[in-house]
Amino acid sequence: MKIVHFSAECYPFAKAGGLGDVVGALPKYLNQIGHNAAVFLPFYAHIDVSKKERELRYENTVSLADGSYPCSVYEVTEEALGFPLFLVSVEGLTNRDAIYGYEDDPKRFIAFQRVGLQFLKTQKTLPDIIHVHDHHTGLVPFMMTQCPEFSEFKVIPTLLSIHNAQYQGQFPHEYGGWLPEFPDSQVGLLDWDGMINPLATAIKTAWRVTTVSPSYMKELQQHANGLESLLAHEAQKCIGILNGIDAETWNPQTDPFLETNYGPTNFVTGRRANKEKLCDTYGLSPSLPLFGFIGRLVWEKGADELVSALEVALNTLDINVILLGSGDPALEKKFEQLSDWYKKNVGAYIGYKESMSHDVYAAADFLLMPSRVEPCGLNQLYSFRYGCMPIVRKTGGLKDTVIDIAQDGLGITHEETTSNQISEAIERAVLFYQQKEAFRKKQRAMMKLDYSWEHSAKLYASEYQKLIKS
Ligand code: ADP
Ligand code: GLC
Repeated sequence: MKIVHFSAECYPFAKAGGLGDVVGALPKYLNQIGHNAAVFLPFYAHIDVSKKERELRYENTVSLADGSYPCSVYEVTEEALGFPLFLVSVEGLTNRDAIYGYEDDPKRFIAFQRVGLQFLKTQKTLPDIIHVHDHHTGLVPFMMTQCPEFSEFKVIPTLLSIHNAQYQGQFPHEYGGWLPEFPDSQVGLLDWDGMINPLATAIKTAWRVTTVSPSYMKELQQHANGLESLLAHEAQKCIGILNGIDAETWNPQTDPFLETNYGPTNFVTGRRANKEKLCDTYGLSPSLPLFGFIGRLVWEKGADELVSALEVALNTLDINVILLGSGDPALEKKFEQLSDWYKKNVGAYIGYKESMSHDVYAAADFLLMPSRVEPCGLNQLYSFRYGCMPIVRKTGGLKDTVIDIAQDGLGITHEETTSNQISEAIERAVLFYQQKEAFRKKQRAMMKLDYSWEHSAKLYASEYQKLIKS
């Protein structure tokens, strides 16, 4: 099957979180099982691909309401990537330093989606499937089914993956002119609560909808930031498929970011070396249990309650903490304060640092994920692979992947994102850490778990097949 993914992120070229990891891995695994998957990504300014490494495949203009914008598409074929990457460039719109966060984001992403389809139209063979991810690419299925400009795409099945329904990309109808022409009678497909809502539009117009874990699919029926009734209405075309991990990128035996590589047979010495290095960098003693946190500092991740819980824990227990994150400035400040107040026991890096995230999985004994909302969560899966025990709130994908040690599982779980429950979980972790042999046995078992994309890529392939045959 020829599969085209449209996404705002794709590791290693553009990543703000797990979406980048998924789109950088799933196509590779689809190709390994004999398909032909490619990724379309906006050509952001920070993407460092020299002229030698890319080939110009398309040059034209795209007409938005306020004028015509020069656009081009470059193909990058790098063997290690495992799939062809198409960088879509729209002058003045895609070439910004950051992926998100601009006032004109809706216009930027519409331009990206339109140019991607314009380019596909010029190809000898059309894709068998178009797979879009989150609201940034959610207008593709609408354009394919409703806009005469793209009428040849009407018969091509589309699949939307919802990675996070909190963000829907709404914008006022007055900007509908950024889209290609479509019949006035179809404007309802774009509307949700009086706004153009790209995520709602995708749920209405894609042939199939997936969420990134089965539990998240169920949770969305109750809490979907206003889209509950729509998801209930479209329930028959929705399914939860658990994300996988790129087991080549996330492999402690070969990970180039690590101080010392290790595997299930020598993880004790290997992890100790990584812990000593990280602790040394942050002035912490490597002899204490080390608790890590890695994540975007937003309400969903529960970092506010985490800070309160850590204060309690740091006052009563002998633990060290390593924090890596960025986002909400108030939370960033709290992280910094904590590391100032508890200099000997807390290290914090405010910012995004890919290499350090690998170091934390390899060095920390426990990884804290007190998320209020976690559609899938990849951190806990990376933690398992690196022998670091996840401590998670039972929600979404965390609920689907982490079983408590009290039920013979490999993690520590709690019901709610409250400072009390998080600090109790930390206390349980410290007690378990003291049972050295039992703890090591769990670490060995975690590292042998297989959450690679191999399994879930087949589930996606089977969904694609069903759509093609329908
Ligand atoms: P989300 O997509 O909601 O952020 P996931 O658990 O799916 O959550 O994925 C998060 C990804 O982003 C992981 O690869 C994690 O290691 C990475 N990550 C998050 N914050 C940072 C950071 N500050 N520095 C480096 N990597 C980070
Ligand atoms: C989103 C979710 C996260 C998920 C990731 C990849 O960012 O917040 O839980 O793992 O997408 O699907």
